[in-house]
Amino acid sequence: MNINRQLTGNHMGNTHEEQIQCLQPLEPGVVQLVQITDCHIFATADEKLRGVDTRLSFEAVKKGVINNAGGLDLLLATGDLAEDGSADAYRYLAAQFDDFDAPTFWLPGNHDDSETMTQHFVGQRISATRQILAGDWLILLLDSTIAGEVYGRVADTQLDFMAAALNQYAHKHALVCLHHQAQQSGSEWIDEKGLRDDQQLRARLALHDNVRAVLWGHVHQEARQTIGGVEWMSTPSSCIQFKPNSKEFALSDEAPGYRHLRLKADGSVETAVHRIDRE
Ligand SMILES: [Fe+2]
Repeated sequence: MNINRQLTGNHMGNTHEEQIQCLQPLEPGVVQLVQITDCHIFATADEKLRGVDTRLSFEAVKKGVINNAGGLDLLLATGDLAEDGSADAYRYLAAQFDDFDAPTFWLPGNHDDSETMTQHFVGQRISATRQILAGDWLILLLDSTIAGEVYGRVADTQLDFMAAALNQYAHKHALVCLHHQAQQSGSEWIDEKGLRDDQQLRARLALHDNVRAVLWGHVHQEARQTIGGVEWMSTPSSCIQFKPNSKEFALSDEAPGYRHLRLKADGSVETAVHRIDRE
């Protein structure tokens, strides 16, 4: 295993936000990563989400990443990793994510239990660090969850954490990640369960001219738009998909998937969603 694949050089802090992980990209001039989101894993293997075996579906996505994504510098797991917030779900996921030959960084979703996740979603290459410096890029992971609620909010403390990091590393291009949608999805029912303060988040992001991309999960569907030179992106779930542009809750029969990103030295982003056939 390449030394860069291990979580070395972590500047430890008291909180996930105070910690910084520095990574040396495998390929000079580009940071390569995969986002996996909304895995909704249960404590036991026989529980299903709307008829879908979320473990099997996750394992198919994992296989797709390992076989097709090529050399990665890191993975991002952007929340709702567990359906039930159980220790057993996180222990299963930790073993699964440790199969990747690159470190995984995570943030919680509304279905997650942050405390249980911190305690049990642990492995050699799994980190709760919320700031990553990789090549020419700064990657920030924000916590948009409110305990007991489906909707989200980026608390002032998280906004201040984001602003401080964006100022400190103003010479780096920045990718900002969170669980809830930073832009409306167009599906009324899930937008009602989105961020309560999305305008405030966007206003705070707009104060920094190094923000190149914002990435989230929660909506279980693919989207990408460029606004003001910033890429705004959502990514399919590794299990069930929600029907785009639906007023009421509705599922789509699209396949599960993940997003591959190449963050380039000039601040541009190459990205594609890859779908996986369930076996
Ligand atoms: Fe979800």
